[in-house]
Amino acid sequence: MTVRAIVTGASSGIGRETAVALSAAGIETVLVARRRDALLETAARCPAPHQLFVADLAKPGSEVEVVDYAQSLGEGVKPVLINAAGMAEFGSIEALTADSLQRQIEINLLAPARLCHEVLPWMLKEGSGHIVNVLSVVASQPLPNTGAYAAAKAGLLMFGKVLSAEVRRKGILVTSVLPGAVDTPIWDAMDFKPNRADMIPSSMVAEAIVQAVLAGPKMAVDELHLMPPKGLL
Ligand SMILES: NC(=O)c1ccc[n+]([C@@H]2O[C@H](COP(=O)([O-])OP(=O)(O)OC[C@H]3O[C@@H](n4cnc5c(N)ncnc54)[C@H](OP(=O)(O)O)[C@@H]3O)[C@@H](O)[C@H]2O)c1
Repeated sequence: MTVRAIVTGASSGIGRETAVALSAAGIETVLVARRRDALLETAARCPAPHQLFVADLAKPGSEVEVVDYAQSLGEGVKPVLINAAGMAEFGSIEALTADSLQRQIEINLLAPARLCHEVLPWMLKEGSGHIVNVLSVVASQPLPNTGAYAAAKAGLLMFGKVLSAEVRRKGILVTSVLPGAVDTPIWDAMDFKPNRADMIPSSMVAEAIVQAVLAGPKMAVDELHLMPPKGLL
């Protein structure tokens, strides 16, 4: 059966590497992010059929356009959703602004939850599907200065668990991925500068995600904890 994966955050980091690795495994991809030029760079590395879809997922309603587009490419496939788009603004809760709280919850919790909700009818119609939510180790471990980000990731962790309990017997799997620090451009803008050489290579996170997706028919990978060997960061 043809597998078609919507990959958000496909213009950079984990999303980009996951799209490339899925494509190398012969999976069709729909590459989603705001920056077309960066999506084109990802597309150039994808050997399997792929499409670009430029969207700002922080805008409610964009999830409808993304899923409608992916479905319009043809039915009779196994739909996969990789929620990798995300952002982080680290700092103490005391220093957190209302705008930053809103931004982080919007893109790290509400946007992926809206996509899960929107893709579900298509997956139920096909009788198969797989959702992978890229969370963070801070979804399950309190780390100072990550309040809003951690709250969003923890919220999506439980959203995915409930969704899984509701739909796994209908052929739809949900995998939550909880990585520690991964070497991606997300760290470029951070004041906090851990040693990038100690972080997990993004291509290794991507390979783990592809393995979880490919395992789908025979084994459900519910949660993946991926840590840099030296520890959290
Ligand atoms: N790197 C780490 O250490 C680490 C650890 C644990 C978890 N994570 C999680 O892994 C995921 C990927 O992060 P990364 O490290 O790969 O970061 P990254 O390289 O900065 O990539 C973030 C991606 O999210 C997309 N994005 C952000 N806001 C968006 C919006 N409003 N609409 C559409 N797309 C948007 C960006 O695309 P555009 O800018 O083109 O829109 C980009 O493709 C995130 O969910 C992050 O929280 C990262």
